[in-house]
Amino acid sequence: PEVAFAQGRGSGPSSSAIQAALDNAYGKYRGLNEGKNADYIPALAEVPSNFFGIAIVTGDGTVYQAGDSKQEFSIQSVSKPITAALVMQESGSKLIEDSVGVDATGQVFNSITAVEQYRGKEMNPLVNPGAIATVGNVKGTPDEVWNKIIGIHSDMAGRQLQVNQPVYQSEAATNQRNRAIGALMSAYERFPSDPAVAVDLYTRQCSINVNAVDLATMAATLAFGGRNPVTKKQVLDPSIVPGVLAIMATAGMYDDSGKWAFHTGGVPAKSGVGGGILAVVPGKFGIGTFAPPLDDAGNSVRGQKAIIDIVNELKANPY
Ligand code: DON
Repeated sequence: PEVAFAQGRGSGPSSSAIQAALDNAYGKYRGLNEGKNADYIPALAEVPSNFFGIAIVTGDGTVYQAGDSKQEFSIQSVSKPITAALVMQESGSKLIEDSVGVDATGQVFNSITAVEQYRGKEMNPLVNPGAIATVGNVKGTPDEVWNKIIGIHSDMAGRQLQVNQPVYQSEAATNQRNRAIGALMSAYERFPSDPAVAVDLYTRQCSINVNAVDLATMAATLAFGGRNPVTKKQVLDPSIVPGVLAIMATAGMYDDSGKWAFHTGGVPAKSGVGGGILAVVPGKFGIGTFAPPLDDAGNSVRGQKAIIDIVNELKANPY
């Protein structure tokens, strides 16, 4: 399809090219039966595996959709760069760099070895130890912290989001490992608040319900300097956005972040074990996908394939 980069306000592919790329990817992968739902959080194993939704939001606030794009699911780790942005905005980027680090760990997302190696430093906000420490660095009482967390997620999605209570209860009952990680990060003084409270707020944050359109809107907010293109609200200080995207580019897709960068030409993205992926094409658009079955690295199989195809078909690769 024809790709017109000079159309409308800002630059980017034409609307018909975007909808065609989205429909092509949806048609190509909707029947693909590969991967497996996460099951270490019992409630995630029960989500129907065949859900598949894709959405794109462009700089003029247009929303493109295919499939189950309004189906809600728990955001899980896709929340991590958003709370990192909150802390960078509130306390400065240096706090994140100094407290949890901004490098990829080369270890799985809930690795305790990675914590031990550098006493809780030299990690990043997108792995569990860094994410729990990030939540533990948000200022205020537990209620104030929660209101800031749900507030920034809602502002980025452009609607009031809610917690998926069954997922929250399920994870809270089975998150012994995260509690150990929180206690260890606290022992290394990576955050000032009570570790049990930080882990609980982190668990609630991971249980926020979103749909593919919400993820695409959040991604578009990051693609356009922190301004939500649908609501027009300036949610993030533009100066912190490049740092957030850089962390996503290096560590957003777990151990496959290098492979992902290779196949997308450097699209910053973040996946979650609920099956969501948020992908940012700076200055052009945001993509959100939902498909529960994950590959061995923990990334949604159909979501990855759809985003790779869409970005390449629209020649939207950043590099
Ligand atoms: O803490 C956990 O294990 C989940 N709430 C989130 C994990 C996830 O999505 C992967 N993280 N990078």
